[in-house]
Amino acid sequence: MPPHFLDGTELSRDELLALIDRAAAMKAHPLDARPLAGRSVALVFERPSTRTRLSFEAGVFELGGHPIVLRSGELQLSRGESLRDTALVLARHVAAIGIRTGPHADVVELAEHSAVPVINMLTADHHPVQVLADLLTLREAFGRVEGLKIAYVGDGNNVARSLAVVGALGGVEVAGAAPAGDPLEAGRPATLTDDPAEAVAGAHAIYADVWVSMGDEDTADRRRADLAPYRIDDALLDRAAPGAIALHCLPAHPGEEITAEVLYGSRQRIWDEAENRRHAQKALLELLVAG
Ligand code: CP
Repeated sequence: MPPHFLDGTELSRDELLALIDRAAAMKAHPLDARPLAGRSVALVFERPSTRTRLSFEAGVFELGGHPIVLRSGELQLSRGESLRDTALVLARHVAAIGIRTGPHADVVELAEHSAVPVINMLTADHHPVQVLADLLTLREAFGRVEGLKIAYVGDGNNVARSLAVVGALGGVEVAGAAPAGDPLEAGRPATLTDDPAEAVAGAHAIYADVWVSMGDEDTADRRRADLAPYRIDDALLDRAAPGAIALHCLPAHPGEEITAEVLYGSRQRIWDEAENRRHAQKALLELLVAG
């Protein structure tokens, strides 16, 4: 079976930290590595995307490859062709497959039948490529990854789960703050509280994500009410470690999960984090395709 990247646990800590180091080197010299020269990568999007599409498409190109973006409705999948047959055919043409879809089980099934590496570009349960960029951003800000603390404040979604899983894999202490009954309770942060100030104490980074994820629109009003005390603002950053930074998966909703002052202010690394998607995913593609 080829190496896949479905929830991040496919990597050891040493492999993950080496990948982050490699991503930093690739950022410094973006056109030096061409492991995809003459090869293509399929990027299947069954959900909308700005950052993931941009960063993968540009990243594959920088690695010398040809990205083939396939949107929902363009594949025979939308007319009932199976994931198995789709995987069998895609793997005859491309060096790797990225897929963004809803059910995580679909990505697992695609990987089971793929002869080339499959990368999870977001499912309802996991968003591990986002956390690769998050760890690279921490490395840039603090010179290391291991031993840092991140406080995730807000809705317990796929990003929160991947931050808990992949962050812990990288030696980061991940604390969560969410209202009682939030799905974050079913995630795996090292500590969980309903008090944001408690979660951010000693944190090197405070992490926000949208309060209403894709597919959760029917509960938007309740989520906004429940999560109102979990907004990231300058006062909350003041309670973290000196020099703490703000991170955000994006897209952001200024005034909801994060204030505009933080989102566009001097204590954030959010826009670097968005750029780092490309560098981190290039290191991942190189690892999976070239070994
Ligand atoms: N953070 C992230 O995955 O952004 P997109 O949904 O725009 O790809």
